[in-house]
Amino acid sequence: MNVLGIETSCDETGVAIYAGDRGLLAHQLYSQVALHAEYGGVVPELASRDHLRKLVPLIRATLEQAQMDQDDIQGIAYTAGPGLAGALLAGASVARSLAWAWNIPSVEVHHMEGHLLAPMLEENPPDFPFVALLVSGGHTLLVNVAGVGRYELLGQSLDDAAGEAFDKTAKLLGLGYPGGPAIAALAEKGDSGRFRFPRPMVDRPGLDFSFSGLKTYTLTTLQKESAGLEGDALAALQADIARAFEDAVVDTLAIKCRRAMEQTNSKTLVLAGGVAANQRLRQRMNQEMRKLAARVFYPRLEFCTDNGAMIAHAGWQRLKAGQASEGLAFHVNPRWSLMDLEAPAP
Ligand code: KG4
Ligand code: ZN
Repeated sequence: MNVLGIETSCDETGVAIYAGDRGLLAHQLYSQVALHAEYGGVVPELASRDHLRKLVPLIRATLEQAQMDQDDIQGIAYTAGPGLAGALLAGASVARSLAWAWNIPSVEVHHMEGHLLAPMLEENPPDFPFVALLVSGGHTLLVNVAGVGRYELLGQSLDDAAGEAFDKTAKLLGLGYPGGPAIAALAEKGDSGRFRFPRPMVDRPGLDFSFSGLKTYTLTTLQKESAGLEGDALAALQADIARAFEDAVVDTLAIKCRRAMEQTNSKTLVLAGGVAANQRLRQRMNQEMRKLAARVFYPRLEFCTDNGAMIAHAGWQRLKAGQASEGLAFHVNPRWSLMDLEAPAP
């Protein structure tokens, strides 16, 4: 079965074709970063309009890349949540209209399930069961995964998501959006020994996270240390703060992952979502899991951040089990818990 996947939950328009027997055949991504950059963050109304403008040309380009036409597609998968309501509606309306016109089934995909299963697009996929750390702009989730749709929540962020903390801290440091890659690049030039930021909630039991305090810590450190500084000295301070912030997030995530692996007795960790593109986080997780004789799996870098390939693949997992949207009415679910999903029929 060849599945066309459509992702429009936030600021990337992603389209891909996943074949059950041959894997990923084509994928196209259009990033709206330049559109939102001047506003310092995503403007929802602009995002929805741009998805609508880009979707049909991207679907055409994806079919062409796979050397296919509409008759070769047997199912359509689209992100139905969580995400921005208008952006989700743009993708959902195009996906459901195409499915109706082409007379094929479609299926709603949960965006975080897309991320969670994305390492399965790689040559060396993880086997169930595993523990997954999902770190994106909107979510920080530690999940015990028994199979597709069989998720047990181990821990989550009580305030800012990990990616959100990167984005907000980047703003405080005067960096552009999205903040994660900007902080990572600046941190490369920073001195890891100058400041030590707190590792929130690691000294109490449990697997929940809290990242919003790090933002305040950044602000107070910046205010205290930057008085009278300019030029290179100010740039060095900003780099040292970026490094201290990144070290604190990475260390906190690593400590909680180790705890989750020990608690569940698992030997397989999956790391996914935009923040999983962070090199320091990947290196640190490799080291930490080596100590536990456990293996860690990630998607390739471009499939850590939002993309259509993960949606086509997650949709295929459900369509092949016979799951499909019903009727002609459709709705999106901007706030949809991953834990509300059910396993597809065996
Ligand atoms: O998964 P994603 O593309 O979108 C959501 O589902 O939210 O994640 C985007 C988040 C943003 O907060 C972005 O700053 C962060 O991932 N991010 C990074 C890196 N690349 C993207 N954070 C840290 N280091 C990176 N290299
Ligand atoms: Zn995402």
